[in-house]
Amino acid sequence: MRTPAKNAARDAGLDPTRIPKHIAIIMDGNGRWARQRGLPRLAGHVQGYATVRAMVESAIDLRVQALTLYTFSSENWSRPKNEVDGIMRLIAHAARNELDELHENGVRVIVSGRFDDLPEDVRAELRHEMNVTKDNNRLILNLAINYGGRTEIVDAVRAIAAKAANGELKPEEVDDELISAHLYSPHLPDPDLLIRTAGELRISNFLLWQIAYTEIWVTDVLWPDFSENDLIMAISDYQKRVRKFGKTADQVV
Ligand code: FPP
Repeated sequence: MRTPAKNAARDAGLDPTRIPKHIAIIMDGNGRWARQRGLPRLAGHVQGYATVRAMVESAIDLRVQALTLYTFSSENWSRPKNEVDGIMRLIAHAARNELDELHENGVRVIVSGRFDDLPEDVRAELRHEMNVTKDNNRLILNLAINYGGRTEIVDAVRAIAAKAANGELKPEEVDDELISAHLYSPHLPDPDLLIRTAGELRISNFLLWQIAYTEIWVTDVLWPDFSENDLIMAISDYQKRVRKFGKTADQVV
């Protein structure tokens, strides 16, 4: 079991009472990192995986409760076959090789996305990992795999429409809460903070419903170079913001 400093957040100059409960990350820039070094794109993903390990440790130390990582989008299937296969192999490898350490550290792994369309060996590793870690609650690690924000909403609407059609619910019962309850990971609170690496100023079909009031932080740092210091900078910036949720600044202070 990792025994972080008694108060790693305070040691890092953060307010431990205002750590974002749920952080979501668009891990971008693996390809650029590899290109800058004359390496194949896959080398960037391998280094990106090392950053994932480090960020899970930092999230535990800082007492973040949930971390959602955009690991493979529903659009990523159109990449060259060797890259897609390589990322799938990495996901399966990570599920197998990190399981003991994640479990020992109280991490629960869940997956958001169209799970059934993943290769069977990847599904088997992930299923096992989710099953072994299902009662852990120190950190929820939500891997968005074969994930698309619009597809998630389509899947939720289909499930709700099916219930309406068979009389389980009435159309007027459809509200924000009901839609949230039909998303891939209904028990997760909406993200407080969304981090995007590698400088692009777009959402790329990530968590479209859940980020309605999420604070966004973008850095030029490429994902393989992203460090705990960068995470601390993002949280520090988040802690300076006033979250208004549609109210005036005076109403929320
Ligand atoms: C985006 O960078 C990155 C991805 C599509 C893959 C992310 C995968 C990992 C970090 C490795 C596996 C992770 C786990 C959790 C096992 P990009 O390739 O789009 O970069 P570019 O825009 O510079 O080309």
